[in-house]
Amino acid sequence: AAEKTALKERIKRLLKEREAVLVAHYYVDGDLQDLAEETGGCVSDSLEMARFGRDHPAKTLVVAGVRFMGETAKILSPEKRILMPDLDATCSLDLGCPADEFSRFCDAHPDRTVVVYANTSAAVKARADWMVTSSIGLDIVAHLHAQGKKILWAPDKHLGSYIQKQTGADMLLWQGSCLVHDEFKGIELDLLKAEHPEARVLVHPESPANVVALADVVGSTTQLINAAQTMDATTFIVATDNGILHKMRAAAPGKHFIEAPTAGNSATCKSCAHCPWMAMNGLQNLADVLESGSNEIHVDPHVGKEAVRAIDRMLDFAA
Ligand code: 13P
Ligand code: SF4
Repeated sequence: AAEKTALKERIKRLLKEREAVLVAHYYVDGDLQDLAEETGGCVSDSLEMARFGRDHPAKTLVVAGVRFMGETAKILSPEKRILMPDLDATCSLDLGCPADEFSRFCDAHPDRTVVVYANTSAAVKARADWMVTSSIGLDIVAHLHAQGKKILWAPDKHLGSYIQKQTGADMLLWQGSCLVHDEFKGIELDLLKAEHPEARVLVHPESPANVVALADVVGSTTQLINAAQTMDATTFIVATDNGILHKMRAAAPGKHFIEAPTAGNSATCKSCAHCPWMAMNGLQNLADVLESGSNEIHVDPHVGKEAVRAIDRMLDFAA
């Protein structure tokens, strides 16, 4: 514990010395989330992380999350230095949608408006008309559908089919998935609900359709935390990365949170309910990158210029 306290103090001192700000996602280690809040940074969902990073005057942002979050920050602020505790922290959605293959998919369907999820590489965003996050994807697709647009969606098939069902839009879906959310199980969740009939079910839309079907609230990480805080219930079953429980418990003290069932348990399934790439962010490597200035995110400026249009469209829509 003494070592941890010393590391946290070192990080606080380095953030000041380097005039850097910490931007963290709700799935990373709770200590990092707390540090981000205590030091004037932010902890939030992908949309807010992007907006916060763009608007903050600091010259250096340290992004505690996964690679696409660091890249989005760089694309929005090419003049800023973006550091990440571990540059190998990626995402199965990003990995499952290689830019060249995606580009061929787009070429084959030139009549469709290309909407991509934030969880993609800069090169995939460069090929898109719109980028969306889980908090606003539904509204943006509903808007495009109202204009009569047909949509090519990538990469998350579960989020895509959820949005498709909600909006009735014509959507052609890339078949990617999140290895964490894909593990949540509908039948087992139904049984758990029967054991806790008073519980409300909070589900991230990267989960399979039979899990989403059992939800009281479907939303981004921030939206799920807000629901836990404001809903008139004391017990919640949560189907998303369990890193979120740190903030949920702090935001809704006295309420009770149960993790939704997955295929395995922590002994048999490494990625069950916790993203292995989010878990690469820790106090030690955060302190190290602040000290050394290493692990900087670079995005090819030409790719960045192409990609920023899709991101700006979303941010303008959200404003
Ligand atoms: P949010 O934008 O809802 O925070 O989701 C990001 C993510 O990677 C979920 O797995
Ligand atoms: Fe990607 Fe899933 Fe990890 Fe989110 S939880 S970063 S979608 S692999």
